[in-house]
Amino acid sequence: MVLIKHLSEYVGKEVTIKGWLYNKRSSGKVKFLIVRDGTGMLQCVVFKGNVSEEVFELSGNVGQEASVEIIGKVKEEPRAVGGYELDCTDVKLIGESNDYPITPKEHGIEFLMDHRHLWLRSKRQTAILKVRHRVIKAIRDFFDSRDFTLFDPPIITPNACEGTSTLFETEYFDLGPAYLTQSGQLYAEAGAMALGRVYTFGPTFRAEKSKTRRHLTEFWMVEPEVAFNDLDDNMDLAEEFLEYVVQTTINDCVEELEVLERDTTSLKRVKRPFPRVSYSEAVEILKRKGHEFEWGNDFGGADETIISEEFDRPVMVHRYPAEVKAFYMKRDPENPKLALAVDVLAPEGYGEIVGGSQREDNLDLLIERIKEHNLPQEFFEWYLDLRRYGSVPHSGFGLGLERTVSWICGLEHLREAIPFPRMIYRNTP
Ligand code: 4AD
Ligand code: MG
Repeated sequence: MVLIKHLSEYVGKEVTIKGWLYNKRSSGKVKFLIVRDGTGMLQCVVFKGNVSEEVFELSGNVGQEASVEIIGKVKEEPRAVGGYELDCTDVKLIGESNDYPITPKEHGIEFLMDHRHLWLRSKRQTAILKVRHRVIKAIRDFFDSRDFTLFDPPIITPNACEGTSTLFETEYFDLGPAYLTQSGQLYAEAGAMALGRVYTFGPTFRAEKSKTRRHLTEFWMVEPEVAFNDLDDNMDLAEEFLEYVVQTTINDCVEELEVLERDTTSLKRVKRPFPRVSYSEAVEILKRKGHEFEWGNDFGGADETIISEEFDRPVMVHRYPAEVKAFYMKRDPENPKLALAVDVLAPEGYGEIVGGSQREDNLDLLIERIKEHNLPQEFFEWYLDLRRYGSVPHSGFGLGLERTVSWICGLEHLREAIPFPRMIYRNTP
């Protein structure tokens, strides 16, 4: 059996192809079957004279998305999809498919989401899945080639990391409530103290009540954590990382981005250095553009879009009011009202794709923060140990995979950036 993407190596030879019927047409003594196998599409030409009567009849009756095995000779054919064609000698039905629910006509989004398990077979969805795969590979390649060790944090955790309002809770035997992790960061910090540079990469969970196009309740996050990095080092790492991920992906996914009709002009500009503005400067931008905004509030999606429109590439906003950020962030020695935080805002309205900070490395200050945030200190004793035994300045950030894939693919909603999205009103299929 040959994969469609490798057909160029088989011109003039007879091959067996296995896949699913994408589409078909017929004209008199010839049937055209467009078959997909996940690696490409192929036009299979069945001439009445070249096959048995049964095979010719089958070729006319085979249903959309039926699975088939096809034998034929490979021909170059620039006018056909993919540039090759199969001159068929045999067609076998593997699994029939009658009344496939998703037809070429337009379907509503709820119908498509209900049929997500089938919708995944469409040209657009497979293109997105391939871009997602390429982004994941870029992320891993980047860190693997820079002396980082992959470090897997637990998913079941006894405490919150990113605030207590978005926790998924479960009973954990006799030990009381436990939570699905919101972020692997606190564990990554332990990893960084052991290995110097680590990154976590896995699913994270937020019981987000917000029904927006930027929020999933289950999403994948990559979180590098680096011992001895300060906020500036953290921003250097984030921009080098984003440039690498975007440039390698758009280089390698030309075909997929074409299917998605993604204009990549703006993505090509994702090159270092990225503009860096403080939170206070960002607030000034909002005001200058005539938007009401009070210093001290967190930016909403609309604010992020307005700020990012000032720049032609991702912008790094640093030094947020500590009040709106997590307990573990280090305060700015110049102004203790500010946290040494950084968010990267993507262009074109894609909003915050990276959130990070320098971490509080002083034991007493960290205990103070835990108290201020009303967090149960006994669950953080292990975390405090990292400040008791050889504490060092350290920093890291988290990149949301689905937000990144949406941005690169130019999607309107995160739901298409993950195979089976989990959102406030949907946990099926
Ligand atoms: O800004 P967040 O909450 O930061 C953290 O979790 C830190 N612990 C990261 C760190 O410093 N190691 O989340 C990081 C990123 C966001 O910038 C966004 O891209 C993504 O995770 N994200 C979401 N993506 C989809 N759905 C949601 N509900 C998301 N919440 C955050
Ligand atoms: Mg954030």
